[in-house]
Amino acid sequence: MSRDVYTDPVRFELERERVLGRHWILGGRSEQVAAPGDWITFEGHGEVIVIVRQADGSLSAFHNVCQHRGPSFVAERQGCGARRFTCPYHGWVYDTTGDLVGVPEREDFDPAHLDGLRAPAVAVDEWGGWVWINLAGPDTARPLLDALGSDITADLGRYRMEDMVLHDVVEWDVPVSYKAIVDGFNEIYHTKELHGVSAEWVKAARDTSFHITGDNYMCFVPRAEHVDDLARDPDHHRYAICHYVVFPNTVFNCNPEHVQVFNPIPIDVDRTRFLCWELLYPDTGDDPEYPAYWERTLKHWEGLKRVVGEDIEIYEQLERTKRSSGYTRHVLQGRECKIAHYHENMDRKIRDNA
Ligand code: FES
Ligand SMILES: [Fe+2]
Repeated sequence: MSRDVYTDPVRFELERERVLGRHWILGGRSEQVAAPGDWITFEGHGEVIVIVRQADGSLSAFHNVCQHRGPSFVAERQGCGARRFTCPYHGWVYDTTGDLVGVPEREDFDPAHLDGLRAPAVAVDEWGGWVWINLAGPDTARPLLDALGSDITADLGRYRMEDMVLHDVVEWDVPVSYKAIVDGFNEIYHTKELHGVSAEWVKAARDTSFHITGDNYMCFVPRAEHVDDLARDPDHHRYAICHYVVFPNTVFNCNPEHVQVFNPIPIDVDRTRFLCWELLYPDTGDDPEYPAYWERTLKHWEGLKRVVGEDIEIYEQLERTKRSSGYTRHVLQGRECKIAHYHENMDRKIRDNA
């Protein structure tokens, strides 16, 4: 596998157009836009988007780009109670769906130039308590549930992330391609050396099952303390760590009691904003076990953040070699099959432009 996939700016432009511009990517959590007028923004690979909850409960998403002369007209990252957005440059006004509804000194414009003008719409939908956006737009984007596929919606759906609450989001600025980060979640070969997991863990992980489903992946890593249980009862939700990758850049890491979402957002060919989200089941107020759950889960989350920090140390080493003439290709083994499939799929989408 050539290393160019991580560093070639020409290829990245094609990928922006044909992959990142046509697949569903995460915009945020539904609970961040709970009430009408609540809004969040997305910014990645040169695109700036606003997502707003409407009075009827639906969401609208549109490019945060003033159609007069181009600046973003929503400056903050998120807010609430929006009724209108006003461009700070000349005062054009947009409603919460992105329609242009006000132009100061309108009589000076050719009416034909203003007719039907709006901030271009972006497709938006919700699944699993997550807001998903697709830059292909509402008329062209493949339906979200088709893109996720029934294997993912059924298996990952069992965690009921829509009933969970956001506990924490951690953000890193990483100096390598977002795909190098996805790679790290598409194999477990590195966990022994880099994360120093126990010999029992490594032994159990050799029985990991890998599943390719459409553009996406599932893998179930047996938990070392439950290998015998798993042999008796194939309930991977209970006895394995379940891992789902939604092409091209959304990774769900599911433990029986909590879920992490790893979301490397490409900023440029070799720069990434890496978000890690932690979801917990909420306190219903009547569960005496909840404080123990809380303590156990947060301890585990602290450990996971340490593990991600170890991954980031590798990305820093990859930054040092990204222009090196000594680095030309990768050599993959069978248990890195998801990495090979991911990059082949990416190649095919760029090549076929479909
Ligand atoms: S650029 Fe936005 S109103 Fe002129
Ligand atoms: Fe790792």
